[in-house]
Amino acid sequence: MAGNEKIWTAVDRYAAGSLLGSDPVMEDILERNRGSGLPAIDVSPLQGKFLDLMVRMCGARHILEIGTLGGYSTVWMARALPAGGRIVTLELEERHARIARRNFAAAGVSDRIELHVGPALSSLERLGEARADPFDLIFIDADKPNNRRYLEWAMRLARPGTVIICDNVIRDGAVIEADSRDASVEGARDVFSFFGGHRRLEATALQTVGEKGHDGFAMAIVNGD
Ligand code: SAH
Ligand code: DHB
Ligand code: MG
Repeated sequence: MAGNEKIWTAVDRYAAGSLLGSDPVMEDILERNRGSGLPAIDVSPLQGKFLDLMVRMCGARHILEIGTLGGYSTVWMARALPAGGRIVTLELEERHARIARRNFAAAGVSDRIELHVGPALSSLERLGEARADPFDLIFIDADKPNNRRYLEWAMRLARPGTVIICDNVIRDGAVIEADSRDASVEGARDVFSFFGGHRRLEATALQTVGEKGHDGFAMAIVNGD
């Protein structure tokens, strides 16, 4: 581990220790995810709390998440919802979905979560056909090469005021490598070109360092026509 990463992790531990307190439900979920062999790419606890605050700051009642994994980020957002609020979360892998369902039950939030298993692009097609209420908050955290397509769907499923957040848009700084042929880096760059080029979006990006290394979020708000 590079010297910097050690201090980033120590600061994350300090901040989480000061701000989050003990949270056995969320801690058990991470333990179950690791014990089940899921990749350790859940959002960090502090990032989970960031999503929780975003849900409440936006007054979100209807959330879309693309990329469930074991549902760690899902549960952070689900717990922040007001009564009657709902999350739709999309996951490709049945194995991940099975673990996520167990985590939703353990956290007591199963009734607020609709988990769709399969390629997110197919699930999004079905959501589009169902013409459900627009989403208030959309969190994109799945296969990075599809970011642009996910953002196109996000715009179709949004309303003026919807907030869109994308994870992992910095990738150790590789995002600035314009000639990169790494499909995930290209996917990160797609978020910037989409957000930067869309007349109905205003956006920013925040680099993060911490226990997940050097990465970051991009986020945008959807304006009216
Ligand atoms: N949001 C989660 C982490 C998601 S990791 C958290 O912070 O806890 C990314 C997830 O996206 C993985 O579980 C992966 O299986 C899933 N994924 C990859 N390709 C996908 C696709 N085409 N459709 C839906 N999910 C996909
Ligand atoms: C990766 C994916 C993520 O969603 C994440 O938060 C960190 C890493 C990855 O695929 O490497
Ligand atoms: Mg991520």
